[in-house]
Amino acid sequence: MEQRSLLVLYGSETGNAQDVAERVGRDARRHHFKTRVVAMDAYDIATLIEEPLVIFVCSTTGQGVEPRNMTKLWKTLLRADLPADLFDGMDFAVFGLGDSSYARYNWAAKKLQRRLQSLGAREIWERGDADDQHYLGLDGALDPWIDGLFRVLLVTYPLPLGVSVVPKDYLYPPRVQLEFLDGPELPLSEAPFSFPGSSPARLLRMKRLTRPDWYQDVRHIEFEYDKDVSYSPGDIAVLHPENDPEEVQRFLQRMGWAETADKPFRLVPNDQDGLERPLPEYWPEVMTLRIAFTRYLDILGVPRRSFFESLANFTTEEMETEKLREFCSPEGQDDLYAYCHRVRRTIAEVVTEFRSVLIPQNYVFDVFPEVRPREFSIASSVKRHPKQVHLCVAIVQYKTKLKAPRRGVCTSWLTRLREGDPVQIAIESGTMHLPPLPSTPIILVGPGTGVAPMRSFIEDRIYHEKSKENTLYFGCRSLDADCHFKEEWSSYQDKGQLVCRTAASRDQPKKVYVQNLIIEDAARIWKLVHENKGYVLVSGSSNKMPLAVRHAVEEALTGEGKLTAEDAKEYVKRMEMSGRWQEECWS
Ligand code: 2AM
Repeated sequence: MEQRSLLVLYGSETGNAQDVAERVGRDARRHHFKTRVVAMDAYDIATLIEEPLVIFVCSTTGQGVEPRNMTKLWKTLLRADLPADLFDGMDFAVFGLGDSSYARYNWAAKKLQRRLQSLGAREIWERGDADDQHYLGLDGALDPWIDGLFRVLLVTYPLPLGVSVVPKDYLYPPRVQLEFLDGPELPLSEAPFSFPGSSPARLLRMKRLTRPDWYQDVRHIEFEYDKDVSYSPGDIAVLHPENDPEEVQRFLQRMGWAETADKPFRLVPNDQDGLERPLPEYWPEVMTLRIAFTRYLDILGVPRRSFFESLANFTTEEMETEKLREFCSPEGQDDLYAYCHRVRRTIAEVVTEFRSVLIPQNYVFDVFPEVRPREFSIASSVKRHPKQVHLCVAIVQYKTKLKAPRRGVCTSWLTRLREGDPVQIAIESGTMHLPPLPSTPIILVGPGTGVAPMRSFIEDRIYHEKSKENTLYFGCRSLDADCHFKEEWSSYQDKGQLVCRTAASRDQPKKVYVQNLIIEDAARIWKLVHENKGYVLVSGSSNKMPLAVRHAVEEALTGEGKLTAEDAKEYVKRMEMSGRWQEECWS
């Protein structure tokens, strides 16, 4: 019999693919596979060739880009010197999550599948595709895919004699046991923390950029490292937020854990899968419930289906158990959507509403998902500000039909930071880069907080390269309310280092957007883009803005350059292929 060991590797941007991976993992355990579920980039790639059976789950973001925690693995797999039979001992299957409104739907999953096949791995079950366009899409596609997967797996990897599949609602032993320690309490403020790839820094200063009475609170935030740091303009800062202490306290009280919340415990692994550290390596071995729910476990996110699945194990009232199970069934998906997603109900609110839920402390690390790190475009050049990283962040706050206003976990954490407070920051490369030559003109388009990476480009070009062909299209609602970094732009402009064009959309009766100014400037755009082979970099939070900017540039190419509409489209496409057109946008 083949060795019954199964590895689930996931590449996840927002946590959906991770949730799917965990679900595949649970099913694998029910089928008595020795199971590990690991993020692709947390896995030691050198040992991949020894794996007999690997299930890959990966999402595709935006324009066909693979998730960030898959890039390392993907780069390794792409190496040209890999032999064609590298993985001939491996069985695999792929499940992809994507959005079919993009041309490159599930691109990462498809690429991965083809590459594994070309390296000799054997695909044992057809690829599964889940579509974001369909809000039942994930579960609609996943359930039958998992059923089919284990049907074929049991043929190649039959159950050991006398053993049968564990029922779906069987409660597994927890992954870790909490071994409470005698001795003093461990306050949150005294517990050290570090995150992979991160370095310690401190909050240097924070300033509100928008007028005090303005509806939106946008902050300029400066962090300073103790040591030198290096990054490129366009790079991304990754931060690990902490949950609001008041929310944590309320939650601990609801769970009946407030009294013991600061008592230290050691996390002792349950050796069911032979894993020494079933929890992420960087989590401390000794912590408290307050530390766990402040730094590592999510209570303020919208729960996923798997959360309801685990909660159903811990209710004492039948009505509640039934309701939770219904939320997990295919028929219950409309209800679950209305209850949770539409109103963005949080995990803490759900456990408060299901009053009979009583979770044994040992299961805490199985039931609650991890706090996700958050990414922000860096708004500074390290050459201009050695040891520093600046951010430009809109504080997230909005209302839903529920009473409590919603606040973004990470941005409200940022507003709670005081000068000198320690943080951990990791830096990752972004999708936008400056042209290699300082003489190449750049046209930056960054309305709202989309201006963050643009500030890093402008500072870098001006400080280091002394280049002058820098143009910024900035968009705000009103010049005297939300025109971020206004003084900086005008001082550069006075020195002839920057041409700044601001579209203040609501300062006049008719709206003016960045794309309108680009059309006004058609002659200049044609010259910079065509004659001087300039770069166009676009960043912002609007879904429609990037496309409108593209159309505006195309219009400049047809008007000034006399290209046909089709040729203009093709022209921008070619710019994109050669890296002269870059976008980093979010919704
Ligand atoms: P508005 O809010 O007045 O519509 C930063 O958010 C700026 O981007 C605001 O001035 C906002 O204008 C503008 N904006 C909104 N939608 C846009 C779009 N589709 N294209 C360009 N700018 C847009």
